Amino acid sequence: MRTAKVEDVNYRLLAAQAEGLLSGHRNRISNAANLSALIFQALPEVNWVGFYFEVSGVLMLGPFQGNPACVEIEIGAGVCGTAAQSGASQRVDDVHAFEGHIACDTASEAELVVPLFKNGRLLGVLDIDSPRRGRFSAADEAGVTRLAEIYLDSID
Ligand code: SME
Repeated sequence: MRTAKVEDVNYRLLAAQAEGLLSGHRNRISNAANLSALIFQALPEVNWVGFYFEVSGVLMLGPFQGNPACVEIEIGAGVCGTAAQSGASQRVDDVHAFEGHIACDTASEAELVVPLFKNGRLLGVLDIDSPRRGRFSAADEAGVTRLAEIYLDSID
């Protein structure tokens, strides 16, 4: 169930739920689909949660929850491409102030993108959008980073 308030999100519990949800199968698409659904249900004030996967040097849209989104993002472009290129999570309080931000859903105001590396190789990114500026805290970044680790451990 979606928690009512941002500060009530229990990332420890969410991580335990993610471990249970992803433990039975090792398919990266299936587990990405279920994890995006879990996060979308659990986090208040988010309008998009999903994955982009690196395919032949670009980021291609993977499983997600929310409105239809851009299919292909260049590595280095937008918030997702910046996370993929730099290997650093991007926590953006105001996407309109982020140069090169790619507007897929006009409702999005803030964004959190965690890059995914498996065995030292870029696998893709986990992207979360919010309709509220400044929505994502350091605690959200730490919690979502942990969820990304659980995802990476769950796949081959
Ligand atoms: N805003 C992203 C594009 C992906 S969507 O938010 C789903 C970006 O700038 O990379």
